[in-house]
Amino acid sequence: MSPSVNRDTLEKPRHILNAGQFNRPFLDYMYELINTIRRFDKTKDGLMYLQSLLPHRRAMLYFTQPSTRTFMSFHAACTILGLKPSEIRDSSTSSERKGESIEDSLRTFASYVDLIVMRSPVAGLADRISGLLDETPRPVPIINAGSGPDEHPTQALLDVYTLQRSFHAGHGIEGKTVCLVGDLKRGRTVRSLSRLLANYKDVKLIFASPIEYKIADDLRSFLLSRNVAFEETTNFRDGIAAADAIYMTRVQDEYDVIGEKKVDTRNYHLKYEHLDSLKKECVIMHPLPRREELDPAIDKDSRAKYWRQERNGMWTRVALITILMGVDSHIVMPTL
Ligand code: NCD
Repeated sequence: MSPSVNRDTLEKPRHILNAGQFNRPFLDYMYELINTIRRFDKTKDGLMYLQSLLPHRRAMLYFTQPSTRTFMSFHAACTILGLKPSEIRDSSTSSERKGESIEDSLRTFASYVDLIVMRSPVAGLADRISGLLDETPRPVPIINAGSGPDEHPTQALLDVYTLQRSFHAGHGIEGKTVCLVGDLKRGRTVRSLSRLLANYKDVKLIFASPIEYKIADDLRSFLLSRNVAFEETTNFRDGIAAADAIYMTRVQDEYDVIGEKKVDTRNYHLKYEHLDSLKKECVIMHPLPRREELDPAIDKDSRAKYWRQERNGMWTRVALITILMGVDSHIVMPTL
């Protein structure tokens, strides 16, 4: 661990609920912690050491909304640390089916495990459950792995890590322009990432979307209150040409209201033909899963970082779990 971050005086979170809870010292600490943890991945001894950190602990992965990478990456993160994961992926197999409230179900899980990672279609649920558990004699840490159209803080943390790593040679995230594209109204990754980026000086955000998918009022007010420079535009081509990083997202049509008219998003698709108009070092990101908004022909371009985001996500989650479980102080640079 570099001496630039004093981990003893840093305020560490007890839960991970939303992007608003993190400040710049924490983000810098997390960046260094993840980089140190990755050094352990280089040798068998290093990996065995990581596995020795939490073999006496158990985690519950409560995912009642579809998930591939977030679920897998938390599952892998747990096993890297020796932490034993159990899972619920469908509330119809739990006592919620018998009419049990979600609060009672989660309090039950908290009796058996030491950490709960939860994804749910209900906005604000992770906050509610953490508040409830904090008033019980056994308040286990909660990680919000996606709460409806609301927040996805661990995705935002791994996105910031990816940006920081990609801009390493270019002096970090400060002063950079990030263009976020797609369904900005209902995409939780966009809300969480934009809020985290407010921690970096002179960042400019360009939100490129059809009128129907403009950012929600709460995010607009937040950015104004934090004096973050931002622009909302329907001009996709100008937005991507000005960007140091492009964050593509899909239409979140699972939240469509029946009978609602489909929005035409064809002008907001990043295609192979656009690559020439991007900056030479532009970072292309996507939280995935992708659809037609991101051309697979771009995957081979060195600026495409979305597959790295996935791997970075696993290491980010390892780091976050070590912090919540109080073993991050055991992560010191290994001698290889
Ligand atoms: C995102 C999500 O679930 O919000 N996916 C993810 O976790 N990587 C993005 C999406 O579903 O569009």
